[in-house]
Amino acid sequence: MRILITGGLGFIGSALVRKLIDTTDHSILNIDACTYASMPESLEGREKENRYQFKKINISNYNEIFEAINEFKPNKIFHLAAESHVDRSIVNPNEFIDTNIVGSFNILQSLKICKDSLPEDFILIHVSTDEVFGTLDFKDKPFNETSPYQPNSPYSASKASSDLLVRAWNETYKIKTVITNCSNNYGPWQNPEKLIPKVIYSALNNEVIPIYGDGANVRDWLHVDDHVSALLSSSESEKLFERYTIGANQECSNLDLTKIICSYLDKKKPKENSYFNQVEFVTDRLGHDLRYAIDSSYICRSIGFQPTYNLKDGIKETINWYLNNLDWLKNKTKNS
Ligand SMILES: NC(=O)c1ccc[n+]([C@@H]2O[C@H](COP(=O)([O-])OP(=O)(O)OC[C@H]3O[C@@H](n4cnc5c(N)ncnc54)[C@H](O)[C@@H]3O)[C@@H](O)[C@H]2O)c1
Repeated sequence: MRILITGGLGFIGSALVRKLIDTTDHSILNIDACTYASMPESLEGREKENRYQFKKINISNYNEIFEAINEFKPNKIFHLAAESHVDRSIVNPNEFIDTNIVGSFNILQSLKICKDSLPEDFILIHVSTDEVFGTLDFKDKPFNETSPYQPNSPYSASKASSDLLVRAWNETYKIKTVITNCSNNYGPWQNPEKLIPKVIYSALNNEVIPIYGDGANVRDWLHVDDHVSALLSSSESEKLFERYTIGANQECSNLDLTKIICSYLDKKKPKENSYFNQVEFVTDRLGHDLRYAIDSSYICRSIGFQPTYNLKDGIKETINWYLNNLDWLKNKTKNS
């Protein structure tokens, strides 16, 4: 089978490439623009495999992405390439529009044109986020597959736009599709602009650990390897259109998560004062969503998805990974 992955040098995409190389004999074409968020080192040597190819392509260039799809004729496309950091989208949304909306459109247009020459079982797995549904209050029920779209940030609006394009190309041109809306991921090789590696880096470097607002914002944390398993199972869908909301049912506030990280670091790398003393509450993110939570019962019921990590153990394993890769964490923090 031929698998095309966009964004396969990013945090989640690289975990998917590692899993596919380690557990299948599929041919893989990884397409990535090598932005600041890319990490070729995260493939950990899998790039040497003969059945792995890489093309540096920006998906906002229609001709290049069209040619790549038309030539490779994939059985599956996992579309992960995106600008993914909400804070950056607030400061400079342009690239989010170009990559997340125009880039996704270019893939869809290419599929529309190439459709008849692609393998019969072709399927597009469009990897999206729970942020497209907006925010929840503490009393609200978690998001599910029928939640209305109410994006609040330029990032989530750009992802919501791409979801809508995907849905329309599916309906109009019958391109077989799964849209996945997943909660916050954590694990190895996450860019240190994101909360967990940022807290670890700041703590260990005696810097301020910045927490937005009062730290009450809640996320449902899913380990990246569990997300990858869900994506692979989703890609077996037989339906013309499917959507899955994916989470781990492990809600935790940013402040509580920071406490967990600091108290584990206190044990692993003790110093005079707890790392938690470095926390400072900083001006809240504009339009900061209060709470995300996911009802995963549909994907659990229909394809047997079951997260294998609980947050308590997963976070310890993740902290240990960053402790063992401190040089990478420092370099990536300085160069992002
Ligand atoms: N990280 C999360 O918690 C999370 C949760 C739910 C959904 N998602 C979605 O999963 C996908 C992957 O997220 P991630 O955290 O791995 O992101 P990431 O920022 O770590 O990686 C994105 C990758 O895409 C590449 N890329 C960016 N613009 C590109 C372009 N124009 N053309 C080609 N490649 C480009 C980057 O170089 C990078 O390698 C995204 O679509 C994101 O919206 C992420």
